[in-house]
Amino acid sequence: MSELILFLAEQGKTIKSGFLKSQDKAGTRNMYGEEQMALDKWADDVLIKGLKKTRLVRYIATEEQPVIIEIENPKNQFGVVIDPLDGSSLIDVNLAVGTIIGIYPGNVLDKGKNMIAAMYILYGPLTTLTLSAGNGVCDFVMDEKGEFNLTAQDIRIPDAKLYAPGALRKDYLPAHAKFIEELENEGYKLRFSGSFVADMHQILHKGGVFTYPGYAGKEKGKLRLLFEANPIGKIITDAGGAISNGRTDILEMKPTAIDDITPIYAGGKKEIRLIEKMIAESQSG
Ligand code: F6P
Ligand code: MN
Repeated sequence: MSELILFLAEQGKTIKSGFLKSQDKAGTRNMYGEEQMALDKWADDVLIKGLKKTRLVRYIATEEQPVIIEIENPKNQFGVVIDPLDGSSLIDVNLAVGTIIGIYPGNVLDKGKNMIAAMYILYGPLTTLTLSAGNGVCDFVMDEKGEFNLTAQDIRIPDAKLYAPGALRKDYLPAHAKFIEELENEGYKLRFSGSFVADMHQILHKGGVFTYPGYAGKEKGKLRLLFEANPIGKIITDAGGAISNGRTDILEMKPTAIDDITPIYAGGKKEIRLIEKMIAESQSG
């Protein structure tokens, strides 16, 4: 697994070097109907080609591919789930985007709680790598030689009043509207960039809650269970926080397909308990 993690970190370096080459749209859409950036496709290609060449994993599922790729003659049985460039609509305005990866012992259509490692590489003013592989959550910073140096170990999510709310307020479902109102009354400050990975990195280090809820007309929300919710969910949970769909722990969900989407609440346990209580009450009442 360490060989795989080092290989993926190396690909992060390559992806980082691509930002100068292009900030353009690809002129195509992915299976979720989202406009792809040229770099979405390129980063996807870098990762898939590299994994095929090294044969370090058996299964690859990425946000840009419609089916699970199975590698011939793999050296290991690992399955990886990848969002090659999360937040890519922000590339052309130079805001932070990232690569999100989860590693399973085998098949990727598995509960998030069975992941053996999760990581993300965040391309901001610094390039950082955040990893949880059974020994707590760690941060690494890429230096001028392109090497990742450990900067924080056993990261724990602090208790703080930040909230990152996705979706339009006019479409909020009643329990969610109540939750947001409560956070605002409690003095939570707004932090939403349009890049899930960047927003979650802030929540991991500074506390609070990120949500992309289910909303009127799209009760399952927007974000992907395999590629976004689960890997970030493992990291935030291993840091003492939690992730929920508003009813239950997302890491307990068995995926039905690689393109499953889910409402997301991720952050401090206190905030996750509050939304679960409000949704439960709205259903019982
Ligand atoms: O990958 C999907 C994504 O770009 C996330 O990174 C981000 O949190 C969300 O979509 C933003 O969605 P919207 O543009 O609807 O606010
Ligand atoms: Mn994404």
